[in-house]
Amino acid sequence: MNRNGTILVIDDEEIMREILEALLTRESYQVRLAANAAEGLDLARTMPFDAAIVDMMMPGMDGISALDELKKIDDDLPVMMITAFASVENAISAMKRGAFDYITKPFKNDEVLVVVRNALAQRRLVAENRALRQNLQAHQNRFGEIIGRSSRMRQVFDLIIQAAPSRTTILINGESGTGKELVARALHQNSSRSDRAFITVNSGNLPPDLLESNLFGHVKGAFTGAVYPKKGLFELADKGTIFFDEIGNIPLETQAKLLRVIQEREFMRLGGVETIKVDVRIIAATNVDLRRMMDEGKFREDLYYRLHVITVQLPALRERKDDIPLLVQHFFEKYGRENNKPHLELTAEALDLLFEYDWPGNVRELENVIERAAVLSAGSRIDVDLVPDHVRSSRRFQMPQVAIPPEGISFREVITDFEKRLIESTLEAAGGVQKKAAELLHIKPTTLNEMIKRHDIRPRRKRGSALSGQSSRNGVADPADDQPADDDEMEAEVSKWRG
Ligand SMILES: Nc1ncnc2c1ncn2[C@@H]1O[C@H](COP(=O)(O)OP(=O)(O)OP(=O)(O)O)[C@@H](O)[C@H]1O
Ligand SMILES: [Mg+2]
Repeated sequence: MNRNGTILVIDDEEIMREILEALLTRESYQVRLAANAAEGLDLARTMPFDAAIVDMMMPGMDGISALDELKKIDDDLPVMMITAFASVENAISAMKRGAFDYITKPFKNDEVLVVVRNALAQRRLVAENRALRQNLQAHQNRFGEIIGRSSRMRQVFDLIIQAAPSRTTILINGESGTGKELVARALHQNSSRSDRAFITVNSGNLPPDLLESNLFGHVKGAFTGAVYPKKGLFELADKGTIFFDEIGNIPLETQAKLLRVIQEREFMRLGGVETIKVDVRIIAATNVDLRRMMDEGKFREDLYYRLHVITVQLPALRERKDDIPLLVQHFFEKYGRENNKPHLELTAEALDLLFEYDWPGNVRELENVIERAAVLSAGSRIDVDLVPDHVRSSRRFQMPQVAIPPEGISFREVITDFEKRLIESTLEAAGGVQKKAAELLHIKPTTLNEMIKRHDIRPRRKRGSALSGQSSRNGVADPADDQPADDDEMEAEVSKWRG
């Protein structure tokens, strides 16, 4: 295989074929020659080429028709046309029909080589893009809509691939909105059971009786109202997968029966005497700490250990913030399509806000934020005003980092100092209005007032006056800098504070 590429030359003039062959071979390209279009097309059908050079004017099928036919064989093949200088217009029309470029006769060797090099570079790009798209598609087939490129998510993908084929019970652990259901589906999708049922059990608030009749079915007359026998979810899931969403909600008495199915793959319908065997893969998910529930006696120990054979731990979104842009892109596509806004984009400032937020509701919360923005946006750009208040306000406060010196630090002094500065900043944010500042700090105005007195906090000079003062002094330091501004202004501020 030639690493530089294989080039098809179609030209009716023998001398041209010889020149091109010599030139291209010298550059280590592999060259195949054809004296007319039909011969060239035959070659193109039998072996793959990386590029073709085709003469425009040939007896029989001309260059343009040959171009059309070559494109039918390989749509991505870059085709360069050779044309006499006088008929450049024809070459341009060939470009419109998909030719990569044209070379005018007589040509300089270098010209030809540059065009060929470009053609092959483009060919590689197209091939790479195609491979990327295929990878993406393969990823989508395997992992559905699970988006993520962070190392934490890669570990999850690897585990899915490793664990999916077996029948082993799998527990998916993660906070609400981290994608537990998506992972359960991906496990099913990547198993040999993928063409069988995937059944979700939401035990939610069902009373145990009802839950059990749902799971195991019942025989006729098992209870009042059981007029017909009914298959349970376990039977419906036979040969497939059954997914217990929020397994922590299953009542203790049902847990015992569940354990038996996991161990024996058999059960009885409610009121029945016959043992029913099933072949099901069991996947469970939880967002609570099952071990704690176990310690509190709310979750059976034996079931706990049965479930923990393989655990998929899903990271919280705040632990994989580098995936945020990718997720945003994914949801833009989804909600852009739904709302007929195809080219949604975030401003850098809005993206910053998304990065700073903690995302307690994880991907579900991010998805909601993006959907809302997509619906409300007037144009395609989404700026900070479309980011909900609670996401934005997370920026308001960040605990300052304190470096502790080797000799230690006085707790009292640090706290006192911090309290003072906090009050000063809040007053500033409240425009000097004490009542407002007290509200911002969630304390009573009288408490704030006491603290102001205790710390001897005085109104700061207004920014505006400080700035204009400085410019009139041409930046020369003013010894009066630390003094309050003019007395009237001070009076006004103090009265505002009291108000
Ligand atoms: N990695 C991800 N990529 C794309 N979408 C995701 C991802 N994780 C979650 N989502 C989306 O977030 C939403 C919640 O996902 P899912 O229902 O799987 O979460 P969950 O962990 O089961 O949450 P809960 O504990 O609240 O049931 C869904 O709309 C899902 O499509
Ligand atoms: Mg869920």
